Amino acid sequence: MTIIASLLRAADLPDSPTARLDAELLLAAALGKPRSYLHTWPEKIVSSEDALTFASYLQRRRGGEPVAYILGQQGFWKLDLEVAPHTLIPRPDTELLVEAALELLPASPTQVLDLGTGSGAIALALASERPAWKVTAVDRVLEAVALAERNRQRLHLNNVTVLNSHWFSALQGHTYDLIISNPPYIADNDPHLVAGDVRFEPASALVAGRDGLDDLRHIIHEAPKHLNAGGWLLLEHGYDQAPAVRDLLLSQGFADVHSRIDLGGHERITLGRRPC
Ligand SMILES: C[S@@+](CC[C@H](N)C(=O)[O-])C[C@H]1O[C@@H](n2cnc3c(N)ncnc32)[C@H](O)[C@@H]1O
Repeated sequence: MTIIASLLRAADLPDSPTARLDAELLLAAALGKPRSYLHTWPEKIVSSEDALTFASYLQRRRGGEPVAYILGQQGFWKLDLEVAPHTLIPRPDTELLVEAALELLPASPTQVLDLGTGSGAIALALASERPAWKVTAVDRVLEAVALAERNRQRLHLNNVTVLNSHWFSALQGHTYDLIISNPPYIADNDPHLVAGDVRFEPASALVAGRDGLDDLRHIIHEAPKHLNAGGWLLLEHGYDQAPAVRDLLLSQGFADVHSRIDLGGHERITLGRRPC
């Protein structure tokens, strides 16, 4: 007979700042209960079936698989999103892009494009905050398009359209007031790619050429054709790429170019505006 408290004590995940939290999230999911249930009912008996499910989750976590992939879900902004190994697990730093967009654009009808939408995180967060905005979300990976569409439907966000597109290829002739993107931006030889949770995420969501700037260069070069006068381009990038991204935006004639700092104190997003 096993109780909740003893299962958690025996979880034995590798030492990390999130080991206890990870174990609690996995056990709560195995039981089909909220995490608070574990603290309210530490003496509750766990069925052998649920204990086995928990053991299989722990084994995957010990192998390094991110908790979000094991559970198939991740919180972003105020939304619970389905996530899958075909695309990135949304990160808290990316909420900076959402905050900047909500601050810079009016709540009135606005045409928005989210490039490389993945799970749909940015597009769906914006659409949930601004019902009058019309958001187009694109991804090159078909499984990501299907995932973003499932999240859109579950959240009933009818002001979002999800499309398959290689950056702007399916959007010829369309223009927007805001183009927003968290594109791949890691250099192909970066050692982080083979460490920690990142090694479980697909290269298609992470890697962008020798210096990590290939996709940012392409987006910045093409964006002016797809921005209305005065429209904003908001980009996430690597912690050390802000000067390069500012230079690229300035060389394409963008105005009001500046970067903003993430929770770790790094310049994480850079913004520019197509002159009126
Ligand atoms: C860093 S992930 C960001 C996912 C999501 N926007 C987020 O912030 O969680 C980059 C995304 O860009 C997509 N992507 C990569 N190359 C692309 C391309 N050429 N055209 C469209 N999407 C692309 C990937 O499939 C991936 O979903």
